[in-house]
Amino acid sequence: MIFVKVAAVSVLAALSVTAAPSPARHVLHEKRHRPSGDWVKGARIESSAVLPIRIGLTQTDLHMGPDYLMDVSDPRSENYGQYFSMEQVHSMFAPVEDHVHAIKEWLHESGINMSRLVHSDNKGWLAFDATTEEAERLFQTEYYEHEHAQSDRVRVGCDGYHLPEHLAPHIDYITPGVKMTQAVKRTIKRTPKRKTKRSSQALHTTTEMSLPEKWSAPEGVSPELAGCGFNMTPPCIRALYDIPLPTNKPNPKNGLGLYEQGDYFAKKDLDLYWKNVYPEVPQGTYPKPQLIDGANYSVPANSSLNTGESNIDIQMTTSLIYPQEVILYQVDDQLYEPAEVATTNLFNTFLDALDGSYCTYSAYGETGNDPDIDPIYPDQREGGYKGELQCGVYKPTNVISASYGQAEADLPPKYVERQCNEFMKLAMQGHTLLFCSGDFGVASLPDDSGHKNGCLGPESRIFNPQYPSGCPWATSVGGTMLYNDQNVNDPESVMQVDLGGAAANFSSAGGFSNYFETPWYQKLAVEEYFRIGDPQYPYYEELGLVDFNKTKGLYNRLGRGFPDISANGAFFSSFLDGKFTHFYGTSLATPLWAAVVTLINEERLAAGKSTVGFLNPVLYANPHVLKDITNGTNLGCDSDGFSAVEGWDPVTGLGTPDFPKLKELLLSLP
Ligand SMILES: *[C@@H]1O[C@H](CO)[C@@H](O)[C@H](O)[C@H]1NC(C)=O
Ligand SMILES: *[C@@H]1O[C@H](CO)[C@@H](O)[C@H](O)[C@H]1NC(C)=O
Ligand SMILES: *[C@@H]1O[C@H](CO)[C@@H](O)[C@H](O)[C@H]1NC(C)=O
Ligand SMILES: *[C@@H]1O[C@H](CO)[C@@H](O)[C@H](O)[C@H]1NC(C)=O
Ligand SMILES: *[C@@H]1O[C@H](CO)[C@@H](O)[C@H](O)[C@H]1NC(C)=O
Ligand SMILES: *[C@@H]1O[C@H](CO)[C@@H](O)[C@H](O)[C@H]1NC(C)=O
Repeated sequence: MIFVKVAAVSVLAALSVTAAPSPARHVLHEKRHRPSGDWVKGARIESSAVLPIRIGLTQTDLHMGPDYLMDVSDPRSENYGQYFSMEQVHSMFAPVEDHVHAIKEWLHESGINMSRLVHSDNKGWLAFDATTEEAERLFQTEYYEHEHAQSDRVRVGCDGYHLPEHLAPHIDYITPGVKMTQAVKRTIKRTPKRKTKRSSQALHTTTEMSLPEKWSAPEGVSPELAGCGFNMTPPCIRALYDIPLPTNKPNPKNGLGLYEQGDYFAKKDLDLYWKNVYPEVPQGTYPKPQLIDGANYSVPANSSLNTGESNIDIQMTTSLIYPQEVILYQVDDQLYEPAEVATTNLFNTFLDALDGSYCTYSAYGETGNDPDIDPIYPDQREGGYKGELQCGVYKPTNVISASYGQAEADLPPKYVERQCNEFMKLAMQGHTLLFCSGDFGVASLPDDSGHKNGCLGPESRIFNPQYPSGCPWATSVGGTMLYNDQNVNDPESVMQVDLGGAAANFSSAGGFSNYFETPWYQKLAVEEYFRIGDPQYPYYEELGLVDFNKTKGLYNRLGRGFPDISANGAFFSSFLDGKFTHFYGTSLATPLWAAVVTLINEERLAAGKSTVGFLNPVLYANPHVLKDITNGTNLGCDSDGFSAVEGWDPVTGLGTPDFPKLKELLLSLP
């Protein structure tokens, strides 16, 4: 951090004559619209308590981001593939120096000596400690304690605050404010309460079975492909999509990145897979660790933290790209990591580790991590990670696959916008970000958004779109399958299996975001879907915090449609704690696509070209490089969900990879 010294003598001189500065006209900057359900307002904060004040500075030109991204990822653009460096991206959106100076001047004139101000390294925010009395005067507000309803957390916040009119446009956000923070130098009573929330989790389900026998192959199908309709192996995947064995010497800069949280792989299970399912990978082949904020690398196979998610992601991607390596981004310490599948925090600490500026920059009213949603480091709890939050410690891989998601409705729009904006920044630098669409059709995970069936509205019938799939600047991957009597030469259907209980309608998630509008690159495809595949359900047309008590309709006709693409996600063979097991989910389809893109990047790099980066504009403009899926539906919310139809649909997107065509197209681009 840089301590800002007293900058201009003239400012000081001005201060001494206006000992009681005439207050600038203040305007309301932020106001709480409805009481936060989870936080109970308590006592007024005493005037001498010290508050850590943070002023988030408005990033400039954020609205230009999508245009910058399209300039480098639209296949018709002259600048296709000419990505920006991280430094270029930072400076494109940096707050304007003059505005920062004006804010500092106002603070100084209001009695906050410039020597008390800290300006962050990336220039995204100004910080200082102030007494409650000072802060209440600066922002014309009153601060109160708020206690969390389900935990022992206590925070400081206000119902609304004001800023000088001339500065308001340059300030995104102030904390503590409508968003709450911890008070400093004040002891707070803690009464532990049970957490009840459960909003995100790895999207996997397994059935256990004995080791496969040898099956007799139908005519025209080689023996190793005999069981692909009920036992999906790497050779089956290769045959299904015509993916060749890698031939190039692996490019050291082209490892495939897997994001994992709340689950660890077990070395023993990987070795069993190499031995029994894919012997081409030698024993002892494990991913390269890039561990974040105290995450462990792996666990013993019998650990409860080995649920199979990481195992199968690593097994399948490694098999498809070996000898190219898989890079494991495992996030968060031993207290947060297992809790993450039970509460709401995804991706922010990961993004911090890739882009140091993300730790602190402000956008859409959010500055840095959100203490209500994200882990906070150092983690002072026993066994917590005691280091500082890791910022900018790893270089992002060209392709990043994350088989995690949750209901968009369970996250605040501004939090989601800021994070989606960071995905956009990574895309501007040529990285491909792939997220699974989810596994509960048009619903979210059971119990998400407070509804047993994972749906929204007073009758739990409104469809519940998934995030990050709703972010228009990442690629969302849905799931497909072969039925038992089919083989790799048959067309696939929508992944839809009965895995019993709450997973009886396990199917490729899809739908329309409530927070993000249909992006231009998919407008025609979505229009065409409504024309030929109109689902005939009532719909609504609203963006943002839709009031599900009032809205009439089941889905949003204005929203970004997802998934974009899909791939097989059924009957994947794996080992879990030594036992042969089958896995299902769009969380398998996602790393499968990551392997496909990695193999194509390998060829583009070998040809002296850039990576493929953000794929959506290219794919929507060239749907013929994908195998269209036209059979099946994604049930949920007491409905059949949407149907797979010719062309794009909110079930399987544009379709599954046709590797030779995809490669030909992507290699033909500059
Ligand atoms: C501001 O801080 C500087 C450095 O600590 C000090 O020299 C100066 O007297 C302070 N000015 C006021 C007006 O308090
Ligand atoms: C994680 O690593 C720490 C430190 O090496 C170790 O004490 C702990 O047992 C590990 N946790 C698991 C689940 O393996
Ligand atoms: C896991 O296996 C080890 C031996 O390999 C054993 O010592 C340990 O008790 C087992 N843990 C559990 C939870 O079963
Ligand atoms: C919707 O209705 C439920 C039940 O009456 C209520 O608890 C909830 O606060 C309402 N939501 C909104 C956004 O008004
Ligand atoms: C089409 O999907 C249905 C399930 O929706 C399935 O029963 C049927 O076997 C599939 N047909 C083909 C030809 O794949
Ligand atoms: C599965 O879908 C059917 C048909 O919509 C519905 O009757 C059933 O309740 C659903 N089961 C679960 C567990 O959601």
